[in-house]
Amino acid sequence: MIIFGLEGTAWNLSAALVDEKRVIAEKSATYVPAKGGIHPREASQHHAENMAKVVGSILATAREQDLKIDGIAFSQGPGLGPCLRTVATAARMLSLRIGVPLLGVNHCVAHIEVGKWQSEAQDPAIIYVSGANSQVLALRRGRYRIFGETLDISIGNAIDKFARSVGLAHPGGPKVEELARNAKQYISLPYTVKGMDLSFSGMSTAATEAAKKHDLADVCHSLQETAFAMLVEVTERAMAHAEKSEVLLVGGVGANKRLGQMLNTMCEERGAKFHLPDRKYMGDNGSMIAYNGLLMLKCGIVTPISESHVRPGYRPDEVDVVWA
Ligand code: ATP
Ligand code: FE2
Repeated sequence: MIIFGLEGTAWNLSAALVDEKRVIAEKSATYVPAKGGIHPREASQHHAENMAKVVGSILATAREQDLKIDGIAFSQGPGLGPCLRTVATAARMLSLRIGVPLLGVNHCVAHIEVGKWQSEAQDPAIIYVSGANSQVLALRRGRYRIFGETLDISIGNAIDKFARSVGLAHPGGPKVEELARNAKQYISLPYTVKGMDLSFSGMSTAATEAAKKHDLADVCHSLQETAFAMLVEVTERAMAHAEKSEVLLVGGVGANKRLGQMLNTMCEERGAKFHLPDRKYMGDNGSMIAYNGLLMLKCGIVTPISESHVRPGYRPDEVDVVWA
């Protein structure tokens, strides 16, 4: 079975072709805001302008290798409304033109499934951290149940906002990670865990304030240590509660080496196994959408055009994970 996947919920327009075993091809076009953060309408215009190039490149590969596409998967949500609509329109058109089923994929679940595919994780507690989401989940009775999540902004957004406030271009995550390596001391920042939930907004603002008085590298380091410790705490508790002995890290912020290191240490101390998929599967990519679509089609789940409306607030626990 070969599935074409299209991702474009926010900053990255990406198309891919996968089969059960591997990624056959992937082509992306990245939106970089001229200034500030992601502007939804500008991002959707970027996706529209690059759609023919990105999709065309993958279709050309299918033609050259004489591959028959069995389904068109697209990210139905969550994400930015204008971006989702651009992607859904292109996916519907491809499905009708090629004459194969449409597969509406939940973007969060796709991050998880590609992570499982690209690691040896069996039944892990999952920490999903990205630009719009921060959740700790585990599979229970056929759904990825959310054990804990942010009550305000995501960890990625908290870092990006802080980074912009000190003059670093979007996305700030990788730049903050780099700067943090040269830190000399830890500066105390608000640590907010409420039950199983988290809050990052106050910490981000406090870091912006701290950067007016302290060395930037020290603040970057302190921001990472504080936020990641909060995430590790909740992940550890979710493991105990859901009785999981593995952890899987997914989402764009998962590319951060320090976060992986801290989770690995926690797992070692508990005698648990930590799974870190390859970096290229952490941020948004077309392969994850294609792969989740493949899992769906194998179980006979398809999305009729009449049910292919975009779902900007689509939560992972709304999805019946019948393939697991
Ligand atoms: P979602 O809809 O899943 O929230 P997204 O649109 O935010 O997805 P992702 O690619 O999953 O996209 O995540 C992007 C985030 O990852 C950005 O906030 C970016 O700063 C962050 N990020 C990328 N690399 C790193 C890194 N090395 N350290 C910290 N954060 C990083
Ligand atoms: Fe994402």
